[in-house]
Amino acid sequence: SIPIIRTLAELRKTVAAWRHEDLRIAVVPTMGALHEGHLSLVRAALERADRVIVTLFVNPKQFNSAADLAAYPRTEHEDAAKLAPLGAHVLYAPHASEMYPEGFATTVSVSGVSEGLCGAFRPGHFDGVATVVAKLFLQTGADLVFFGEKDFQQLHVVRRLARDLDIPIEIVACPTVREDDGLAMSSRNARLSPSERQVAPKLAAILVDAAALIAGGAPVDATLEEARSAITAAGYARIEYLELRAEEDLAPMHTLDRPGRLLIAAWLGQTRLIDNVEMPAR
Ligand code: PAJ
Repeated sequence: SIPIIRTLAELRKTVAAWRHEDLRIAVVPTMGALHEGHLSLVRAALERADRVIVTLFVNPKQFNSAADLAAYPRTEHEDAAKLAPLGAHVLYAPHASEMYPEGFATTVSVSGVSEGLCGAFRPGHFDGVATVVAKLFLQTGADLVFFGEKDFQQLHVVRRLARDLDIPIEIVACPTVREDDGLAMSSRNARLSPSERQVAPKLAAILVDAAALIAGGAPVDATLEEARSAITAAGYARIEYLELRAEEDLAPMHTLDRPGRLLIAAWLGQTRLIDNVEMPAR
C-alpha cells in the first residue's frame, strides 16, 4: 500500500529526509479519479526520479460551479490501490482546510496564455489552477513535475507560472492517453450515457481528419468550419471553440507556418469534453 500524507508539516518532513539522501523528487498533481492517463504520468515520473509524490486534491478554486465541484468523482481508496503497485512513494491528499486555511487571500494569476480557449469559457479557472499548482510546487519543492498534454492550455499556464516566479522545477509534458476508440481519457467520461459514449470518440476522429487535411495543404479556417459542422452532426450539442494555435506560445494561427495544435472544447449532453492534436509545420 502507499502511505497517505494529509498535512504540509508531514510532507515537508518526508521531503527533507529524501533531500538529506540527495534523492531526486518528482510530483504528479491530480484531482484523483485516476485513470491510465494519470498513471502514465506516474510511470514517466518514476523513470526520471528517485521519489514520486502523487497529489490528490479536488481544488475548489478551479471549478466554475458548485454543482460541478460536488459532482466531481471522489475515489481516494481506489486511487491509492492503483498507485501502490506502480511504486509511487507517497500520496499527498490534503484537506481543503490545509490548502486554504482561514484567511487565505492570495491568487496567482497568469495572463496571456490563460486567455481565450478554456479561459474564455471558464472564468477564474486558470487562476484556481495557477494558485494551487504554485502551492504544490512550493510545498513539495520537487525537482520535476509531470503534466498531460490533454490539458494543453494548462500546460502553458504552468510553464509560464514557473518561469515568471522563478520556481526551480522542470516541467515535463506527457502525451494524451486514449481509449482504444480514440477518446481521450478523462474523469468526466464516466458521466457519459451509453449512447453518448458511442458518439464521444467522433470528436477525436474528426480532429485527426481535419489535422490531416490541413497538413495536406487545405485552408485552415475553412477546414475547421467543416469540422465544426461534422462534430455537431455527429451528435455534439455545442462547440465552445475549435482553433489552431501555435505549439510554442498558443498564438492564433491561420496558416500552417509553424508547429501548431488543434484544440477543441465541446459539450456532449451535459458533459464538457476537451481534446487537442499536434499539427507539425508543413
Ligand atoms: P486532473 O484532471 O486530475 O489531471 C491531472 C493530470 O493528468 C494533468 O496533468 C492532466 O493533463 C493529466 N491527464 C488527464 N487526462 C489525461 C490523459 N488522457 N492523458 C494524459 N494525461 C492526462 O489537471 C488537473 O487535474 C488539475 O487542474 C491539477 C493540475 C491537478 C490542479 O488542480
